Amino acid sequence: MRVLVSGGAGYIGSHTVLALVAAGHDVVVVDDFSNSKPTVVGRLESLSGRHIPVHAFDLTDADKTERLFDHEQIDAVIHFAGFKAVGESVAKPLQYYRNNLDSTFALVDAMNRHGVTKFVFSSSATVYGEKAPVPYQEDYEFLSSSSPYGQTKVMVERVLSDVAHITEGWKVALLRYFNPVGAHASGQIGEDPQGIPNNLMPFLAQVAVGKRDKLVVFGDDYPTVDGTCERDYLHVEDLAAGHVAALDHLDAMTEPVRAFNLGTGTGTSVLQMLHAFERAVGRELPFEVGPRRAGDLAAFWADPTRAQSELGWRATRTIDDMCVDTWRWQSANPQGFPDA
Ligand code: WQD
Repeated sequence: MRVLVSGGAGYIGSHTVLALVAAGHDVVVVDDFSNSKPTVVGRLESLSGRHIPVHAFDLTDADKTERLFDHEQIDAVIHFAGFKAVGESVAKPLQYYRNNLDSTFALVDAMNRHGVTKFVFSSSATVYGEKAPVPYQEDYEFLSSSSPYGQTKVMVERVLSDVAHITEGWKVALLRYFNPVGAHASGQIGEDPQGIPNNLMPFLAQVAVGKRDKLVVFGDDYPTVDGTCERDYLHVEDLAAGHVAALDHLDAMTEPVRAFNLGTGTGTSVLQMLHAFERAVGRELPFEVGPRRAGDLAAFWADPTRAQSELGWRATRTIDDMCVDTWRWQSANPQGFPDA
């Protein structure tokens, strides 16, 4: 199929572009490069051996989005593009609602005008809120989120579900990611957050490469294996494979919309991840324990059985693989992607 990948120059989008091409699909990327660099595309073309058409504009521009569907023959959409920083979303809620919702509306309108009915959405485990029993299961019905970012994911899931139920032929997969980490085995692409990383793995990588002094562990008094928070980390290449599996499964879906957890089903603590990273780097890494971070939950992970049984997908890479691959990327690209 010819797949439009929104946010295709981003961390998960770029890895999914490679997986789509490897699976025999054609890809068209749309990205406004507000949180990614154009140099990613050159890396994707050299890794895939294919030309990757790129349209650089903001998807909240409905006219440009319509024109994209006029010019490009598109069979399916995988929608990654969106603002995704939890803390920033608390400070700038209106920008998050406008960007994440308007971009989706523009895409859905253009799809309906051009008879495109296949949609894979980049959702998040954050939609399970703070009360869902662990392991999280897709049929949990009280979706919510404590951040505007997470609420945009809840809302877009709702919008897509309502559209899919009343639009002939629509099939939508809502992919709820747990904690994506790692990098392509080539070390040529990986996570390249702008500014100080919010997330654990890129921060660890920047400590290891000397860009940050030390890791601050946000609390060690949680009711967990070692007092630090436990999360379900999954390798971004496993995650990318999950998108291909979901896309290829849409026609076989009996429901117009279906959510799938993409996770390993196991939790790993902050200290366990720190020590795994030390094994990858071959030396100890400096850290100190600081206060808890507001909003953090102690522990959660996925029940991944639906994706296994219905998509034939499971995460295969280990925590050590995630750290080894992250370190290969970070040590080969200490400043991330070049600007030009
Ligand atoms: C993991 C653990 C921190 C940094 C977030 C978003 C979620 C999703 C994935 C988009 C926590 C601890 C972190 C540090 C630390 N993103 N930590 N020191 O919070 O589980 O999920 O990213 O969909 O929506 O909320 O991931 O990597 O930020 O934190 O101790 O410098 O590492 O407290 O326990 P999180 P994270």
